[in-house]
Amino acid sequence: MPIRRLSFALLLLAPILQAQAAKPTLHEALMAARADRAGEPGVAAAFQRLADAHGTPLYVYDQAHIRGQVAALRSAFAPRFPKLRILYALKANTNPAVIGLLKAEGLGAEVVSRGEIETALRVGYTGPEIMFTSSSKGPEEIRRSIELGTMLNVDSLDELDQIQAEARRQKKLAHISFRINPGVDPHTIHQINTGIAESKFGLHLQGGIAFRAYERALAMPEVRVEGAHCHIGSQITETEGYLLTARKMMGLVKDLKEKLGLRLDFLDLGGGLGIPYQDGQIVMSPEDLARALEPVWKEGVAAAGYEPALWLEPGRFFVGGAGFLVVRVNTVKETPLKTFVNVDAGFNTLMRPAMYQAYHRVRVLGRTKDPLKVDIAGDVCETGDILAEGRLLPRAQAGDLLVILDAGAYGFSMSSEYNARPLPAELMVDGDAARVIRRRGSLPDLFRSAGPAPAPGR
Ligand SMILES: Cc1ncc(COP(=O)(O)O)c(C=O)c1O
Repeated sequence: MPIRRLSFALLLLAPILQAQAAKPTLHEALMAARADRAGEPGVAAAFQRLADAHGTPLYVYDQAHIRGQVAALRSAFAPRFPKLRILYALKANTNPAVIGLLKAEGLGAEVVSRGEIETALRVGYTGPEIMFTSSSKGPEEIRRSIELGTMLNVDSLDELDQIQAEARRQKKLAHISFRINPGVDPHTIHQINTGIAESKFGLHLQGGIAFRAYERALAMPEVRVEGAHCHIGSQITETEGYLLTARKMMGLVKDLKEKLGLRLDFLDLGGGLGIPYQDGQIVMSPEDLARALEPVWKEGVAAAGYEPALWLEPGRFFVGGAGFLVVRVNTVKETPLKTFVNVDAGFNTLMRPAMYQAYHRVRVLGRTKDPLKVDIAGDVCETGDILAEGRLLPRAQAGDLLVILDAGAYGFSMSSEYNARPLPAELMVDGDAARVIRRRGSLPDLFRSAGPAPAPGR
């Protein structure tokens, strides 16, 4: 083609190419919203497409982000800890599609209830691939775990005795580890501090309580003692708490071998890896943690004279940043003190701000001008139902969409139908494709287990 004709054709094509460049894939739109480019028309249009098709409030998860987090953790730890095993703490996000994705990545399952055991089985896990941790297990949960060959993470001597009795009844071996309370404060917020001495979780290292539990279990022929476990808290952003904990736990590993002749198959240092919730927030990376942990671990291994497998069981780290909660503005209200942007989701949809005073970034889609300090208020009839407080955001109007970032962990999994509001839908985004992974709740769902309405006049 002559040069002149070619450049004429390119000139004609330019607007089409430009429009395509401005039309991001769904994955790109999610990433752009995170990068504070939610005001761009192409990004807003992508979210609008999702809201039009699926309604709001809407949880959207980015598959690539979840996979990337697994790869980051593995590449930091696997070269340094050859016997590494990673589990996913289901409670962070219990959607079967999310769990299935993590299973396909080779992760085990850490569960906290019978419901989570059954969810894991439904996704394709076998009993032995599951670890069951709870400080309060019911008889039915113990029965089912032993039947399945699930690892029971024992939290008290009372529970140990109940496990022994049930294993004897079933004539099966119970596989156990102990959840240890190492007495370490990871400097995180109180509600999610689980490893401090006054916490309800685990058998205390202090006073030899944990040690004596191992001694007792070793005398039980119905029980096979396989590991030690701890989990010091959630949203931990510095390495220090893990290092202190690892030192204490490796001390226990050594004691158990020296004094009881017990070699553990694994030492589980729990989950808790934090993610950045604020723009510019720096948190420890998996690389930071693995690098800091390596010498402590090696020292412990040398002292104990053998190497147990290192197990980790994060939840939030895999799924938190992958989740975007899309909400719609119902009204904007100016009061003498504040401006409230009232949206169609509340703490029934995302509990973390009300429960933990957690900070989530909020982006206004398709708007960039006229910044205004606002509170993003939920639609639950409670004063405390504020999703974000005192945020400087472009002025929003009724009908606008907002996106709340980092909502993938403890978002939907903590949601409820409080105020008789049906549960939101969940979508999984892969490139430019979005798949419904949980349909939106309906009004009939609200009555599904309540039985028929009473007859009039009774
Ligand atoms: C025993 C246990 N393991 C793992 C986790 C996962 O924590 P995170 O989501 O902070 O990684 C939790 C969360 O509370 C937990 O209780």
